[in-house]
Amino acid sequence: MRLAVLLSGRGSNFAAVHDAIVHGDLDAEIVCVLANRANAAGIERARILGLPGHVVDHRAFASREGHEAEVLRILEEARPDFIALAGYMRLLSPAFIAAYPMRIVNIHPSLLPAFPGVDAQAQAIAYGVKISGCTVHFVDENLDAGPIIVQRAVPVSNDDDATSLSARILNEEHIAYVEALKKLSKSRYRIDGRRVVFS
Ligand code: GRF
Repeated sequence: MRLAVLLSGRGSNFAAVHDAIVHGDLDAEIVCVLANRANAAGIERARILGLPGHVVDHRAFASREGHEAEVLRILEEARPDFIALAGYMRLLSPAFIAAYPMRIVNIHPSLLPAFPGVDAQAQAIAYGVKISGCTVHFVDENLDAGPIIVQRAVPVSNDDDATSLSARILNEEHIAYVEALKKLSKSRYRIDGRRVVFS
């Protein structure tokens, strides 16, 4: 499995996926790590690991299309089977998504369809749910809405705040992302409406 990773920040999910590859838990090769911010810690980590890293700063482009065209050009060269969004804080246009149909995956820190969008953990705290978690899903043209591949749940306790809940969910994210990529690389599956059916 040739994997491209797109990120904007810390890159702990990227690191978890890379660790799984190094330890032989995931049969994949990271062929491209791309950030839209030069100061993303994840891109620095990619460089330290000797992985092909690219910065395409969206602020250097007049339009979303211009930025995406450059990202797509780099991806085309890298020839990924799947593109993993790992804290990539840019909305992808329908044209971008259409270039890789059901080959772009994302991780979101809630049990979708609850709490899409930003600050999902704070949304969960404010709502008062007793269980939250994370979701790895295919990316379609709607925000945090594509077919679900893997979910993992965590309890929410009375004294949690967004910070403590985020940390608990993040632990599960690292497991969930590897599990989802493993399933995509090893199993047969079909997408039946909203359902990802593994066989
Ligand atoms: C994670 O919480 C992920 O669910 C969300 O952005 C965060 C990225 O964290 N989409 P990291 O950069 O992988 O550490």
